[in-house]
Amino acid sequence: MAALLEIRDISKAFGGIQALDGVDVAIDAPGIYGLIGPNGAGKTTLFDVVCGRQVADRGEVRAEGRAVGRLSPDRLARLGFARTFQECRVFPDETCLDNVLFGAQDKRLGVEWRQLLTRGMGARSARRDEAMRLLTLVRLDTYADRPAAALSYGQRRLLEIVSTLIARPRFLLLDEPASGINPTLLNVLHDFLLKMYEERPIVFLVVEHNMPFIMSLASHIVVMHQGRVLTTGSPADIQRDPAVIDAYLG
Ligand SMILES: Nc1ncnc2c1ncn2[C@@H]1O[C@H](COP(=O)(O)OP(=O)(O)OP(=O)(O)O)[C@@H](O)[C@H]1O
Ligand SMILES: [Mg+2]
Repeated sequence: MAALLEIRDISKAFGGIQALDGVDVAIDAPGIYGLIGPNGAGKTTLFDVVCGRQVADRGEVRAEGRAVGRLSPDRLARLGFARTFQECRVFPDETCLDNVLFGAQDKRLGVEWRQLLTRGMGARSARRDEAMRLLTLVRLDTYADRPAAALSYGQRRLLEIVSTLIARPRFLLLDEPASGINPTLLNVLHDFLLKMYEERPIVFLVVEHNMPFIMSLASHIVVMHQGRVLTTGSPADIQRDPAVIDAYLG
């Protein structure tokens, strides 16, 4: 059977910089996959290629056997790819609830929500209920009617993640979700992501520099270094791999 997500021999250069240099990653089953590596390793560029923001110079991306490497971000979103950005993106002037509802409404919604919406009456309140449930899980329910600009940076990151999850993606790529989040919210984020995964096991691919966070969240880790995959393994294996320690110490 075809891999859920297969990244095969992907290369991408920017001028003289080889950001990706023959990256292979095969994801055969749903799970929470951590993607780690030093600054400049190519993690965000790999997300950009998988989500259609950049076109690779070489190689291909396949989702359940289908070549998706040249599709636009919108087409990919309709196939169930969703991401957050390293620099958090929310609509600061809109309320937190509207930020989330926009995530559910936009044209990139997943099939399940489209079906729900076309069922008409009741759909709007179902969406609203779900938005409030997710906001409550990340402790933002009391901010539902306030503009996103009122949130701390860490809270905005949580809002962005909720806005992405409500579209019910099948592949969710989070670029440094824990960055700028205080320790209390970090625990909220950790438990929230695990709960979301338990409710709907999909492919989570999470770029992270916070090692304790990603090692306890993910079941598999992919390590990148200088545009290549250095190694893959369980969090326990990765943490005692001398090649990984060397890559980080540079
Ligand atoms: N649009 C671009 N134009 C030019 N160079 C780029 C561009 N995007 C990325 N790069 C370069 O490609 C390399 C990989 O960058 P990338 O952002 O993918 O790394 P990263 O692993 O996400 O790093 P970090 O952990 O710091 O976010 C870096 O040398 C970066 O400067
Ligand atoms: Mg990055």
